[in-house]
Amino acid sequence: TGLVTLDSGFVNTASCSSEITYIDGDAGILRYRGYPIEQLAQRSNFIEVSYLLIYGELPTQAQLDEFSSKISRHTLLHEDLKRFFDGFPRDAHPMPVLSSAVSALSTFYQDSLSPFDANQVEISTIRLLAKVPTIAAYAYKKSVGQPFLYPDNSLGLVENFLRMTFGFPAEPYDVDPDLVRALDLLFVLHADHEQNCSTSTVRLVGSSEANLFASISAGINALFGPLHGGANSAVLEMLEKIRAEGGDVDSFVRKVKNKEDGVRLMGFGHRVYKNYDPRAAIIKKTADEILGKLGADDQLLDIAKKLEETALADDYFIERKLYPNVDFYTGLIYRAMGFPTKFFTVLFALGRLPGWIAHWREMIQDPATKIGRPRQIYVGSPERDFVPLDQR
Ligand code: CMC
Repeated sequence: TGLVTLDSGFVNTASCSSEITYIDGDAGILRYRGYPIEQLAQRSNFIEVSYLLIYGELPTQAQLDEFSSKISRHTLLHEDLKRFFDGFPRDAHPMPVLSSAVSALSTFYQDSLSPFDANQVEISTIRLLAKVPTIAAYAYKKSVGQPFLYPDNSLGLVENFLRMTFGFPAEPYDVDPDLVRALDLLFVLHADHEQNCSTSTVRLVGSSEANLFASISAGINALFGPLHGGANSAVLEMLEKIRAEGGDVDSFVRKVKNKEDGVRLMGFGHRVYKNYDPRAAIIKKTADEILGKLGADDQLLDIAKKLEETALADDYFIERKLYPNVDFYTGLIYRAMGFPTKFFTVLFALGRLPGWIAHWREMIQDPATKIGRPRQIYVGSPERDFVPLDQR
């Protein structure tokens, strides 16, 4: 079996080769399938980027039309799946609700679970892209006690999601085009990020030949944690706590530097980026504009800006190369859009979905894939003899 080396957190260990996303963390570069994130943010949109990530090339108009129309024909949830939501407590966190419902898709679509049948993988891909936004919107509706809306398939994916989330059955929902554009942009920025915790989870679970729904459900649970996707909610909670305690940014930063009670500056730092996260740079540039239009909580925005300014000038953060990451400003934008804090990580999941799917498909097709099975360094007791209960 050869030499086993310890690499906690896989800091230096590649688990696969991939053609999907390129990151140069020192230079702050991110590309999907070779295209710089800045160009995609400015000139593309979420549905096109989803196609690009999953199929490897930008679609022609005909390919894009077919892809969008297939997705819009699968947005409905089975009526029995809708009843799922009744079983959760009202104050359930929407992330486990989302992962449970996605896991349940493998019970509803038993005709499309084979990882090795290209048609089945394709239909599962479309079902996920179409149904996860509906599930997410219903998780929100459940939490506020409002009726579910059927999807309106004349609308685009993001618009449909916003209508199912914020609309009411008896009223027309005039979705604000600025809101649609802003959320679409945030989804583009979240769509893939190579071997992060949730994507690696999707690949690892999938490497056992578990089906796509089961693998994505596992990825959603990995994203839930506050060091990963949960950071966007944690940033807002942090900003609110600082405000509630009088808005003293300097004393909060001091606490972080002294590592008091394990407090971290949420939305800062990244395993790979040792420079400004290019996604955060785009969000920061657009944040003022979006927040200006949507009406931000200016106090929290001021605290965030002051935090960033203070941290970027402080030796602790400079020495450790800690910069704002994608989650630092997104929470403020989601809040301004009307989403509750608990829901932010669900929005991250909606954005990351095409990336997870693309990686799962690449993993399944790669002849080099083996079941993921890390080694360990055993540090427990040496061999010893069993002691009967009455002698312990
Ligand atoms: N605040 C204060 N100190 C920090 C932070 C932070 N946010 N991040 C890292 N450090 C310190 C850490 O204490 C350590 O210091 P020392 O060498 O004195 O022990 C040093 O920087 C290296 O940190 P690490 O924990 O070894 O770094 P990592 O690569 O394992 O962790 C991270 C990466 C993102 C988990 C971490 O930076 C962090 O916890 N950030 C806050 C949570 C967050 O914003 N997560 C979102 C990440 S981006 C989107 C996503 O993946 O979802």
